[in-house]
Amino acid sequence: MRILVTGGAGFIGSNFIRMYLARHPDSEIVNLDKLTYAGNLENLKEIEEDSRYSFVKGDICDAGVVDDAMKGVDAVVNFAAETHVDRSIGDPDAFLKTNVLGVHILLEAARKHDVGRFIQISTDEVYGPAPDRPFSEGDVLTPRNPYSASKAGGELLARSYFITYGFPVIISRAANNIGPNQYPEKVIPLFVTNAIEDKPLPLYGDGNQERDYMHVLDHCSGVEILLEKGEPGEIYNIGAGNHMRNIEMAKLVLDELKKPESLLTHVRDREGHDIRYAIDSSKMRALGWEPEFGTKAAILDAVHWYAANRDWWEPIKSGEFREFYERQYRSRLEEAGA
Ligand code: NAD
Ligand code: TYD
Repeated sequence: MRILVTGGAGFIGSNFIRMYLARHPDSEIVNLDKLTYAGNLENLKEIEEDSRYSFVKGDICDAGVVDDAMKGVDAVVNFAAETHVDRSIGDPDAFLKTNVLGVHILLEAARKHDVGRFIQISTDEVYGPAPDRPFSEGDVLTPRNPYSASKAGGELLARSYFITYGFPVIISRAANNIGPNQYPEKVIPLFVTNAIEDKPLPLYGDGNQERDYMHVLDHCSGVEILLEKGEPGEIYNIGAGNHMRNIEMAKLVLDELKKPESLLTHVRDREGHDIRYAIDSSKMRALGWEPEFGTKAAILDAVHWYAANRDWWEPIKSGEFREFYERQYRSRLEEAGA
C-alpha cells in the first residue's frame, strides 16, 4: 500500500508515519508537508533513511505539487492543517486556505488519480461545546471559532465528494491529542515546558474547561484501523474518554514535576472558549479500536517525554514561538501580575 500522508512533519502525522512503517513492512509513505512553523523534520529523523519513505516539501493548496505527489497512491491521509485555536482567533486567513481550499485541491487530485481511500482527519471541535452529553457522528455541527469552523468546512466538502461523486472519503473526528513531538503552543506541552523552566502556567479563565486527552498513539492506531476497515462515506469519532478539567491537569503536571502550585496563573480567558468537548466513540470501538492509555497515563507519558527531550523543544521555544508567546501571553500575564 502506497500512502500519501499530508502534514506528516507535524505532531500527529509524524507519530503516524513512524508507527505505520514499523507495523507494515510492505507499505510505502510519501509525506507532503509545507513545513510551516509547526512542521519539523526532526520528528522523522529515525525513518528519514528508510527506503519506503519519501518527503516532498510542498503546499496542499498547490495543485501542481499535489498532482505529482498523488501519482501511484492507493490512499491519502490528510493531516495537513493549521491547528491552533488561539492563532485562528488572531489571524484566520491561513486556516481558511489550508483547512478548506487545501482539502479541495487534495480531493480533486485524489479523484482524478482514482485513489482508493481518502481519510480526512477532522476534530471533535466541529461539534462545538458538549456541556452535558457526548456527541455522536449524526449530531449537528456548531463550531464556534475560526479553527473549528474551517475544519468543519473541510470535512463537509470531503463528505460531499462521497455523496456527489461516490469518491471513497472517510472522516475521523478526534479528541485532543497529546504525547511526543507536539508543538509547545498546545496546552500540555506549553504547561510542561513552562513548569520545567519555572515559568508561569497561563490558565485561561477559571480553568474549569474540560478536554478529552487522548494519547497520540491511540489516535494513530485508530487511523490505521480506518485505513483497513473504515466504511467509505462514514464518519468516526475517536476519543478515549480521558476527561479532565484544565485546572486538574495543570496541578497533575506540577505535582509530577515537583514544581510549586504558585506557578499556576489565572489569565484572561480565550474568546469564545468552548467549555467541554465530549464524543461517543462506540462506532470506532465496534471496528475493534481500543485505546491503551487512560487519562493519567496519557498525561504523565507526555510529561516524561518533554522532561527527557529538552533538546527537541528548547530550540523551538527560542525561535518563532517567542514572538507568538509575546503576542498571546504578555498582556495576559501582566494583567495577572505575573
Ligand atoms: P500540527 O500543527 O502539529 O502539524 C500540522 C502539519 O501540517 C505541519 O507539519 C505543517 O507544516 C503542515 N501543514 C500546514 N499547512 C500545510 C499546507 N498548506 N500544506 C502542507 N502541509 C501543511 O498539527 P497536528 O496536531 O499534528 O494535527 C494534525 C491533524 O489532526 C490536523 O488536521 C488537525 O486538525 C487534526 N486534529 C488534531 C488534534 C490535536 O489535538 N492536535 C485533535 C483532533 C484533530
Ligand atoms: P489547546 O491545547 O489549545 O487545545 P483546544 O483548545 O484545541 O482544545 O487548549 C486545551 C485547553 O487548555 C483549552 O480549554 C484551553 C486551555 N488553555 C489554557 O488554559 N491556557 C493556555 O495557555 C492554552 C494554550 C490552552
